[in-house]
Amino acid sequence: MKKVYIETYGCQMNEYDTEIVKTILKKHSYDFTSEPENANVIFLNTCSVRENAHQKVHQRINTLKLLKRQNKQLVMGVLGCMAQNLRKELLDEKVGVDIVAGPDAYKKLPEMLANVDESGEKDFYLTLSEFETYSDVFPSREGGVNAWIAVMRGCDNFCTFCVVPYTRGRERSRDPLNVVQEVEQLAEKGFRQITLLGQNVNSYKYEDYDFADLIEMTSRVNGIERIRFTSPHPKDFPEKLLQVIAQNDKACKQIHLPLQAGNSRVLDMMNRTYTKDEFLTLAKHIRNTIPDIVLTTDIIVGFPTETEQEFQDTLDVLEEVKFDSAFMFKYSERKQTIASRKFPDDVTEEEKTSRITRLVDLQRKHSLERNQRHLEQTFKVLVEGNSKKPGQQMGRNDGNKIVVFPDIKADVGSFVNVKVKEVTTNTLIGTTI
Ligand code: 5AD
Ligand code: SF4
Repeated sequence: MKKVYIETYGCQMNEYDTEIVKTILKKHSYDFTSEPENANVIFLNTCSVRENAHQKVHQRINTLKLLKRQNKQLVMGVLGCMAQNLRKELLDEKVGVDIVAGPDAYKKLPEMLANVDESGEKDFYLTLSEFETYSDVFPSREGGVNAWIAVMRGCDNFCTFCVVPYTRGRERSRDPLNVVQEVEQLAEKGFRQITLLGQNVNSYKYEDYDFADLIEMTSRVNGIERIRFTSPHPKDFPEKLLQVIAQNDKACKQIHLPLQAGNSRVLDMMNRTYTKDEFLTLAKHIRNTIPDIVLTTDIIVGFPTETEQEFQDTLDVLEEVKFDSAFMFKYSERKQTIASRKFPDDVTEEEKTSRITRLVDLQRKHSLERNQRHLEQTFKVLVEGNSKKPGQQMGRNDGNKIVVFPDIKADVGSFVNVKVKEVTTNTLIGTTI
C-alpha cells in the first residue's frame, strides 16, 4: 500500500478539503502517514490569500524535495489555491513538484497519481467547476468536538484585494438535505458542534433554501448542540437570518463580520458594497437584535492609496463597534486580483507596520474590555480537552471564547458550567459550578 503524507495550510476550507482528499485516496487503497520520510506521496494543500502563505510553502517544497534523493519514486504534489494560482511556476523543472491540482480537481487525484507513476511525467488539473461541491464525498473524520462542513464553495463577490474568486471559482451551494445527512453522520460519531463553512457562507442558496433555512434544518439533528458558521459577508444578513440566530438555541450567538476597512472611499475601491455608516448601522442592529452577540472581524491596513486620515476611520469603527476580537492583516498584493491590475501597492511597508501596530493595540484593549464584562458571569462550556496550563482543562462558550477551568476530568464533548473569575485578552478563566 502506498503511503501519503499531507500538510495543510490556510483556512478551514483547506482543512476540510484535506479530509476529502483522504476519503478519495482511501477508496483507491492509499494509506496515510504522519512522517514525510515514510511517504511515497507528499501533498501540500496550499493557500494564496497572502504572500507569506506562498513563501512558507515554497520553503517547505525546498526542504521536502531533498527526500527525493533517497527515494527517487517519491511523488510531490501541490494542491489547493496556490496550485490554481501558480501552475506555471510550480511545474518548472527546478521546483521538483510532480502534481499540481486545483481545489476542484481532487476526484482526479488517483488517476493523476497513476499517470505520474506510469509515465514519470508531471501532471496537472486546474479546471474550475461551476458544480463540484464534493457532496458525494464525506470527509474522513475520527471523533471530535467540532466538525467543519463545507456547505458552499467559491466566491462571486470579487473584492478587489482577494484572490479567492480566481483560485476557487464560482459560488455553488450543496443540497441542504445532503448537508443534513452529513450532520447526522457526525452526530452519530459523537460530534457536538458543527461549523458551516463557505468562502461566502451566508450567500448560501439552493433552490428555495437560503442560509437561515440551512441553520434551522441542521439544528434539528439530535446530538448536535451548537451551530456556528464562517466566513460571512456583511451584505448577506437579512432580518430572517438574524432572527434565526437570535431565536434558535443551537445557533451560537457569535458573528464574524469582516469590516476590511473603515473608510467609505477605501471600501468602495475594495468593492465591499457597503459604506462605513452602513456597516455601523448593521453592527448596531445586530447588537440590538441579539444583545449578547460576540462580534469579531477581519481588517486589512494599507490598501492602495489608503491615507493616514482614512486609516483613522478604521480605528473609529473599532471604537464604535468594540469587536470581541479581530484578525488584522497588512495588505498583500495578489496576482490576478483587480487591485493588482488597477491600484499600485503604494502604502509603504513602514506605514503598514505603523498602522497594524496601532490597530492591534486598540483591538487588544477592546478584547480585554469585552472580556471584563464577563467577570462573574456563568457560561455553559463545551469541553475540548486539557489546557496548556497544567492542571487545567479548557473549552469554549457559546460566543466561541476560550474558557479555562481547573481539571475536573470532564469528558471531552461534555458541557460544564464555569463562573468567570479572571480574564485576559484571549481567555476567560474560572471555576466550575
Ligand atoms: N491582503 C491582505 N489580507 C487579505 N485578506 C484577503 N486578501 C488579502 C490580501 N490581499 C484577508 C481579508 C479576509 C481574510 C481571510 O484575509 O481580511 O477577510
Ligand atoms: Fe487561503 Fe482563501 Fe484559499 Fe482558504 S480559500 S486556502 S484562505 S486563499
